[in-house]
Amino acid sequence: MKLAIGNDHVAIEMKNEIKEYLEGKGIEIVDMGTNTPGSFHYPISGYKVAKLVASGEVDGGILICGTGVGISLAANKVKGIRACVCSEPYTARLSKQHNNTNIIAFGARVIGIELAKMIVDEWINAEFQGGRHATRVDMIMEIEDTQHLQAAEN
Ligand code: RB5
Repeated sequence: MKLAIGNDHVAIEMKNEIKEYLEGKGIEIVDMGTNTPGSFHYPISGYKVAKLVASGEVDGGILICGTGVGISLAANKVKGIRACVCSEPYTARLSKQHNNTNIIAFGARVIGIELAKMIVDEWINAEFQGGRHATRVDMIMEIEDTQHLQAAEN
């Protein structure tokens, strides 16, 4: 498995710990930064990770900023991305099983490193369940593709 990871200045330490943790499990990590202390605009790393995920060059992405919000909002603007912020493992697992998220995000100012590891583990180990969930995810992508949702007309 190969994952991309990105962060802002608030989350360098947590990013490095998560990276080391996942590499220890044999997962290849592509680090899109930032690794430089000093104020950093999170849309840059959110965008870089999202592009790698959307192109299929990696199997998924992990994004960390202060809250996880800004960096996931940026990632979600890239076509094909389904990123969500999680502060606990249950939502992380269900976001993959039901919503087929391809990026997980969290906040270095919100959760601690052990919870972050649990969230990442749940997300990585979960599988999209398809079926009725696929219908709904397809509807989300229809909105993205067309700025319209046919089912909402009925
Ligand atoms: C940086 O101060 C902070 O705004 C950022 O890390 C993130 O929380 C934004 O959503």
